[in-house]
Amino acid sequence: MDAPDLDDTTEIAEKPNAPIQERIDSVKTYNVGLIPGDGTGPEVAREGVKIMNAAAAKFGFKLNYTNYDFGGERYMRTGETLPDSAIEELRKQDALFLGAIGHPDVKPGILEVGILLKARFALDQYINLRPVKLYRAEDCPLKDKTPADVDFVVIRENTGGIYTGVGGVVQKGTPMEIATQVMVYGRPVVDRCMKYAYEYTRKRNRKKMLTLVHKSNVLTHCGDLWVRSHKEMGDAHYKDIKQDYNHVDACTMWFVKQPEWYDVIVTENLFGDIITDLAAIIQGGLGIAAGGNVNPEGVSMFEPMGGSAPKYTGKNVINPLAAIAAGGMLLDTLGEAKAASAVDKALTTALTGGKIKSLAAGKMGMGTTEVGDLVLSLLK
Ligand code: IPM
Ligand code: MN
Repeated sequence: MDAPDLDDTTEIAEKPNAPIQERIDSVKTYNVGLIPGDGTGPEVAREGVKIMNAAAAKFGFKLNYTNYDFGGERYMRTGETLPDSAIEELRKQDALFLGAIGHPDVKPGILEVGILLKARFALDQYINLRPVKLYRAEDCPLKDKTPADVDFVVIRENTGGIYTGVGGVVQKGTPMEIATQVMVYGRPVVDRCMKYAYEYTRKRNRKKMLTLVHKSNVLTHCGDLWVRSHKEMGDAHYKDIKQDYNHVDACTMWFVKQPEWYDVIVTENLFGDIITDLAAIIQGGLGIAAGGNVNPEGVSMFEPMGGSAPKYTGKNVINPLAAIAAGGMLLDTLGEAKAASAVDKALTTALTGGKIKSLAAGKMGMGTTEVGDLVLSLLK
């Protein structure tokens, strides 16, 4: 994908009397690393970029993209996933935007670990931010639930726990083989996630309730660490935020029975991975679920949660709304809150207007680019 040319679309709202060159120079520009990736990744990323650019034009800033071809094709050609030199380049961007990673001809795990997890660890993106918002009742598989009932945020710790890979295997291939993969958490890693979660809950300013999800009745070491961090930090610094707790197994039941209970959830890495897929389906599925791998002090990476969906590649049938929502999150992180909320508004209007028949690939009643164009027209 070529980097889009914004020159002819950028409106320059400020300083109407300044000479043209000076006005152009004064436009705030952000650098965005673009990783379209595999399968339908490039198709949805294109629509996300289209909407981000339109929002930038409308709100008077510019996005300057650098393309990266990381993904299955590059891996098969070169054996490289995400080289260390690339990490240093990505680090210099203001934000990253990812389409999808995953190739049918590459063994599962190689690209996930080599690209996605490597970026998370190397860029210390220690928060996985997953807003769970139902736009239309008809997209929810739960009986009698409406958009008012499904509107919460999951903050998943994103670099620790079982995902660290601590452990190993001995006597492999023998009848006595032993494998371990350990849930690893240090107090600072829990605390920084907890702090982000409390601050987020306060800023969100809804129920002002932070639910910790863990399994403290069995995981008496790691669970207890999370429970103490939640309580001690809340008691000391966030008296305005209610403290709430669910065991992870119970939480999966409550997501189905009473999703309206939740405001913000904080949880460890693997539990967060699991419950956010359940959360995605109650908000209408992977066609709409967006997320961010966030380093609050560094560079963050935004992505639609759906995979590369190889069987739909090139057919213009995949739903780009998740990528568009991810684009909105990216703009918010850049500090462009107005642009971000305009994207969310356009997305809401597009979805409630009745033209988009379903969120599922191939069933939208229009194509990928047409859905993008619809949001675009509503944003302008
Ligand atoms: C996610 C994904 C990843 C994860 C995989 C692809 C490594 O499932 O972002 O939720 O397990 O974190
Ligand atoms: Mn997952």
